[in-house]
Amino acid sequence: MYNGPQNENLRKHILSNYHSENDKAFDEFLYPKYMQDISDIHWTPIVVAKKASELLTANGANQILDIGAGIGKFCIVGALHTDAIFYGIELRKDLYEIAEQSARILHLNQIRFSHLNITEVNFSHFDAYYFFNPFLENLHPINRIDNHLPLTASLFEEYTHYTKEQFASLPTNSRVVTYCTDSEIMPSDYVKAESYFNNRLCLWLHQKSS
Ligand SMILES: C[S@@+](CC[C@H](N)C(=O)[O-])C[C@H]1O[C@@H](n2cnc3c(N)ncnc32)[C@H](O)[C@@H]1O
Repeated sequence: MYNGPQNENLRKHILSNYHSENDKAFDEFLYPKYMQDISDIHWTPIVVAKKASELLTANGANQILDIGAGIGKFCIVGALHTDAIFYGIELRKDLYEIAEQSARILHLNQIRFSHLNITEVNFSHFDAYYFFNPFLENLHPINRIDNHLPLTASLFEEYTHYTKEQFASLPTNSRVVTYCTDSEIMPSDYVKAESYFNNRLCLWLHQKSS
């Protein structure tokens, strides 16, 4: 049950479920009920977030951008699992506030959440990138988190175009990890170097500088 920013006991429960990779119990202690209910579809499972954060930091990268951070689950697991700093950018204010509160409950200070549209973010400030299909809800209403934002095919095009251009402008050997995402988002000079979880989690490396 969700209790808000409580005490050391709550933190211990969350950490023990993080260690045992029990998503249901982890979500139950950390997040409001509605966010638990949509977790399977919208938030990265603990086991996947651990692997993704290992792939992102394997070459020493330590400024990780989560493109569409939601309630912060990927950044939180990544910060518990590695020494890197995680920056989560989230368009929805209520999700951003839950993410901030969750990092506070766990006393995590290697996380920075910002309430921004990704189109306001310059990717050159970071050195590795996580992308869990954040713009898809613009095309598939059935997968929407809520109806509080305008969601249209032209916004999908705009966000995808911006992100792809930012990926293309990154230095050689930059790392992007995608989860449940079509390879279309990656510019043609990225190669898929590794994949896990039936090809749903992919590590992409930039092969040439722009
Ligand atoms: C599939 S969820 C992934 C959340 C988180 N990365 C995780 O793995 O647990 C994608 C998130 O991207 C956010 N989002 C969608 N479009 C965005 C945009 N243009 N800028 C910032 N965030 C966006 C959505 O509100 C949603 O919370």
